[in-house]
Amino acid sequence: MRLKNKVAIVTGAGSGIGRATAVLFAKEGAKVCVSDLNLQPAQETVDIIKKAGGAAFAVKTDVTVEAEVDKMVGETAKAYGTVDILVNNAGINEFGPFPVLQIEDVQKIMNPNFMGAFICIKAVLPFMTDKMYGKIVNITSVMSVIAAKGQASYNASKGALKMLTQAMAIDLASYNINVNAVGPGMTRTGLTKQLFANPERAKWFEDRIPLNRLGNPEDIAPAVLFLASDEASYITGETIYVDGGMLAGR
Ligand SMILES: NC(=O)c1ccc[n+]([C@@H]2O[C@H](COP(=O)([O-])OP(=O)(O)OC[C@H]3O[C@@H](n4cnc5c(N)ncnc54)[C@H](O)[C@@H]3O)[C@@H](O)[C@H]2O)c1
Repeated sequence: MRLKNKVAIVTGAGSGIGRATAVLFAKEGAKVCVSDLNLQPAQETVDIIKKAGGAAFAVKTDVTVEAEVDKMVGETAKAYGTVDILVNNAGINEFGPFPVLQIEDVQKIMNPNFMGAFICIKAVLPFMTDKMYGKIVNITSVMSVIAAKGQASYNASKGALKMLTQAMAIDLASYNINVNAVGPGMTRTGLTKQLFANPERAKWFEDRIPLNRLGNPEDIAPAVLFLASDEASYITGETIYVDGGMLAGR
């Protein structure tokens, strides 16, 4: 029960890494706001949590819309009294190579992946600064430090989120707020379903992963839990990569 009585918001928690994180947080005693762009999958995550005896509620939130984020935070405070933990997990990806990449293509990725995290942090901060306690975990990617073909927008969004993590960690340290990141490697989720549906493609990636397999959301969530817990109270501005060793040889 490492998060006993803590109140957590997990964005993009209707699927993949966000769902696994919300489920694990609840198992560890947290009361969880399961937030997602789509209500139905968020409700399904809540059903999983409740079936296991945990506490959670679902809210439909587009993290790029400030009013919706304020509503998400307001509903969490109404239900559970405060916010202790924020996991900025909501994110998207799309192939978009130069030179055909357009301004709108970049904004489409930067908005949820980077600005969404900023908007959510801004909305929860009053609770955290007031009580001088908070844990923020941003889900970045190995792609925050490795560039890939056709991934300029995604690379830039995750690189920006990595630096936001470091800069905010410094700004918020005097409020006893820890800001860290988890950088997943190649993980089987809704985001990568199409990519890994092709066994040859999946094998191509597996051959480049020292542990020789793709990750699962359940491989990533424990790192998020650790950084959201008081066990990590002396860690801030850091990224833990959970990538089967993918970055180790680079
Ligand atoms: N799967 C991977 O290989 C991988 C690798 C590195 C990083 N990541 C990151 O992990 C995070 C979770 O992705 P996943 O792989 O679990 O994918 P996923 O598609 O399974 O889940 C992402 C969730 O985010 C939600 N979402 C998308 N845009 C949103 C918005 N504007 N507002 C609120 N919710 C929104 C989606 O509805 C979805 O439920 C993302 O930030 C992604 O970039 C994934």
